[in-house]
Amino acid sequence: MTALVQAAALGKTFAGGVRAVDGVDLAIAQGETLGLVGESGCGKSTLARVLIRLIEPDAGALTFRDRDITHLPDRAMRALRRDMGIVFQDPFGSLNPRMTVGQLIAEPMWIHGIGDRAARRARVPELLGLVGLLPEHASRYPHEFSGGQRQRIAIARALATEPAFLVCDEPTSALDVSIQAQVLNLLRDLQERLGLACLFVSHNLAAVRHMAPRVAVMYLGRIVEEAARDRLFAAPQHPYTQALLSAASEPGSERRTRIVLKGEVPSPANPPSGCRFRTRCPRAVSRCAEEEPQLAEVAPGQRVACHFPGALRPEELSAP
Ligand SMILES: Nc1ncnc2c1ncn2[C@@H]1O[C@H](COP(=O)(O)OP(=O)(O)OP(=O)(O)O)[C@@H](O)[C@H]1O
Ligand code: SF4
Ligand SMILES: [Mg+2]
Repeated sequence: MTALVQAAALGKTFAGGVRAVDGVDLAIAQGETLGLVGESGCGKSTLARVLIRLIEPDAGALTFRDRDITHLPDRAMRALRRDMGIVFQDPFGSLNPRMTVGQLIAEPMWIHGIGDRAARRARVPELLGLVGLLPEHASRYPHEFSGGQRQRIAIARALATEPAFLVCDEPTSALDVSIQAQVLNLLRDLQERLGLACLFVSHNLAAVRHMAPRVAVMYLGRIVEEAARDRLFAAPQHPYTQALLSAASEPGSERRTRIVLKGEVPSPANPPSGCRFRTRCPRAVSRCAEEEPQLAEVAPGQRVACHFPGALRPEELSAP
């Protein structure tokens, strides 16, 4: 499997010393969807933006189509950008209210010099159709649409340049619950139909499970576990993944005991020594404070960054 997007020890530290992304290794193959899940502030959006170089990394290496783009200058990046799309959480903020839907969808093609004016104009109704909107919507303005429809417009815009890699950063979190499933299904459909590689970011485990055959779990700037979806949900090995799944499961819906996590999420500007999860981990021992666990394969395709991976025992679950 050759990766379309590959990150090696990738990092991004913001002013103030916030290590939002800190030593991330991951690979996404052509046509593959990787889900990225974790609590608020763990660095999902920063990682997503670094992967398409909306943010320049300050550690590690990033390749796209086997080309090193870690520090590729803006001018060279611009040509690559047509191969990368992003759908943001907020379909209100991401669409210029002064442009018509047709202009919004044609703009990326114009920016990248794709087709002439007539060709771009002809492509707009096709893209509208792709996302379940109508040709006559092209002459309207974003405020005339509902949140779900605006997100469809944002998706059409992201797909206008026929990217190979699409980042979806909480694409349905701002939408009414009643229409979230429609937009998720549309995205999954398009991903399959167009053979897109996709990073699907969400704090919602159910959405990630619906969308992504492979899932990575992030905690305080690092990937702590990565596995095929079915394996991750059936046999999570990192204590944090188990805590996340347990917190999300409906009482009675699964045979999983609820794990109550101790303590607050530590500051990403000053993460705990050794394993970052140790201040909340029911299994932590002194080694966890001294030695940082690296991602290692514990089962085929399942990688875990923990010195003591495996299902938590009942006495660990009832730890104070
Ligand atoms: N431009 C920035 N400047 C300084 N700090 C930032 C910036 N962007 C993000 N951060 C910090 O980096 C950390 C990671 O933020 P990020 O937005 O990537 O998390 P997230 O997992 O996407 O969270 P959420 O689920 O709330 O969207 C947070 O501590 C955040 O405050
Ligand atoms: S390394 Fe130690 S503290 Fe970290 S998750 Fe594993 S057991 Fe818990
Ligand atoms: Mg985010």
